[in-house]
Amino acid sequence: MKNLDFRSDTVTHPTPAMREAMARAEVGDDVYQDDPTTNRLETLAAEMLGMEAALFVPSGTMGNQLAMMSHTRPGDEAIVSLESHIFEHEVGAAAVLSGLNLRQLTFPNGIYDAAQIEAAIRPDDIHEPPTGLICLENALANGRVVTLETMREVQAVAQAHGIPVHMDGARLFHAALTLNEDVKALAGCVDSVSCCLSKGLCAPVGSVLCGSKAFIARARKYRKMLGGGMRQTGILCAAGILALTEMLPRLSEDHETARYLAELLAQIPGVSVDLDSVQINMVFASFDWPNIAQLPAWLKEREVLIGDCHNSVIRFVTHYGITKRDVEGLAALLKEFYAC
Ligand SMILES: Cc1ncc(COP(=O)(O)O)c(C=O)c1O
Repeated sequence: MKNLDFRSDTVTHPTPAMREAMARAEVGDDVYQDDPTTNRLETLAAEMLGMEAALFVPSGTMGNQLAMMSHTRPGDEAIVSLESHIFEHEVGAAAVLSGLNLRQLTFPNGIYDAAQIEAAIRPDDIHEPPTGLICLENALANGRVVTLETMREVQAVAQAHGIPVHMDGARLFHAALTLNEDVKALAGCVDSVSCCLSKGLCAPVGSVLCGSKAFIARARKYRKMLGGGMRQTGILCAAGILALTEMLPRLSEDHETARYLAELLAQIPGVSVDLDSVQINMVFASFDWPNIAQLPAWLKEREVLIGDCHNSVIRFVTHYGITKRDVEGLAALLKEFYAC
């Protein structure tokens, strides 16, 4: 079996076309904003998402953090989901970098409820921090997607209270595909959105943060402040352009492969998968196996990588390079492990 990596869709390598484009990329100095390839990527991303402007940033985390800094003032409160990447996996950066208080809400299956968000907006009370931002995620880190209708309900609440909304769209294109919506419609519900070029789209590095011109000008300044003002970024953005132009049409393959994997896993004794939760390229499987903690190491010896088991659940992610045959191979190995 070839070396397979189900840990994440961040593990993909640049395609041959990307490497070629990177080698040939026309470059300048992006701090002076004269790197033509970076400017091209930013214009393309803004157009695709229907926003005024975009900024190339090294990571999804930096995109989210710059958005939070640019929308708020220290001492503000941002409403987030308890399960969100911003709250769970960004090292508490919002408190350190932006001086934000994070108001964490829990939603069934992570799907936002506009009424619950509205109830969490602070009144104008001298004792309370002002609500300065609402943060959404789509697709959610749990592999589900948020409908356009729900996004619009949150948007209506935010607008009624004059509060900006940022969307962590690390996998926004996956969400748009599942929902059969134009990505512009989803982005149209928020004031800013960051999308990853390196999650399932094969670019080696980077995300694009999109929003109004004034918002992106602020984010650009903060990016410099954090040491993220880079120079010949055209080398990276050349791959990013291909991520947005050539890699999107094949995302549906990853979704289909994930669903196939989920169906195979669900047939293995002691493994349960909520098939309704498999909406993008991620499968969360629950293992009622006494020796489950040993599975990642056992598979690694057989050149298959998976993430660690948390509370008996393992996440499997499909991506470029993982075929239906590969997931059949994984399912066969899991059966072998179960039998021993
Ligand atoms: C939903 C979500 N947001 C943000 C990020 C952060 O991206 P990065 O690892 O590029 O900082 C990730 C990373 O996996 C993610 O899954």
